[in-house]
Amino acid sequence: MQVENGQFKPTIVAFCCNWCSYAGADLAGTGRMQYPAEVKIIRVPCSCRVNPMFILRAFQRGADGVILCGCHPGDCHYTTGNYYARRRMTMLFDFLDYLGIEKERTRVEWVSAAEGARFASVMNDFVKKVTELGPNKRITDLRCKPEKEGE
Ligand code: FES
Repeated sequence: MQVENGQFKPTIVAFCCNWCSYAGADLAGTGRMQYPAEVKIIRVPCSCRVNPMFILRAFQRGADGVILCGCHPGDCHYTTGNYYARRRMTMLFDFLDYLGIEKERTRVEWVSAAEGARFASVMNDFVKKVTELGPNKRITDLRCKPEKEGE
């Protein structure tokens, strides 16, 4: 969690598949489409590479929102990877709901390499929603907090 000028700035982790969403993010950058700097992109070979534990771990380590982006269904470079990812994430969302974590903190989006504008708009919308929710306090791992001076 960061606070800038007294305003909460969320930490957002975006897992993007190499073949579509990461290229979409790249296109957003080269097209000078703005999306918030709070979004930290992690490039993965395919959306199915993201183990649900990665998302839980991101929350534990201080993420306020986590988004998974992959190719549109039917367009996965590995044919069916995003179908596996979709199933896993559906189960993870139920688990997060059980833990009491607001469902708006996680999201799955399909963004193709040609959708730079869509990537920017998805990120803007996601960051806005997570900012409204405030900091994630539910499953933050206290061991991962940076030590304050004097303690
Ligand atoms: Fe993009 Fe599989 S390569 S979702």
